[in-house]
Amino acid sequence: MEFEVNGARRTVDVDDDPAAVEVVRDRLGLTGTKLVCAGGVCGACTIQVDGEPRVSCLTPAARLAGRRVTTVEGLAAHPVARAFAGEDALQCGYCTPGFVVEAAAFFERWRAEHGPTRPGRE
Ligand code: FES
Repeated sequence: MEFEVNGARRTVDVDDDPAAVEVVRDRLGLTGTKLVCAGGVCGACTIQVDGEPRVSCLTPAARLAGRRVTTVEGLAAHPVARAFAGEDALQCGYCTPGFVVEAAAFFERWRAEHGPTRPGRE
């Protein structure tokens, strides 16, 4: 299977039908994506697929074929990641990558629809 990860073309063998989190963490070594609940509840494993957040523990890796995947490692220079770091926005830090990936997707969606207007709390 071929797909793009953080701007680079990657090829992996997925004939054993793994979850996307296994491919991202174990085969590509992008360990910023965490596997915690493995049930789609906690969000620690969130990645972006074509800019949309997806829990990678419930996403079959085969669904990444031909898609553009972004992990927290690919968002290091994103304003949301810099804001999280600048505000020490973490607790133990284990789930923080999922927060960053989800918030960055929201940020990009909001900016595309509303420009520089700040969102309200709701
Ligand atoms: S590991 Fe908790 S939602 Fe995927």
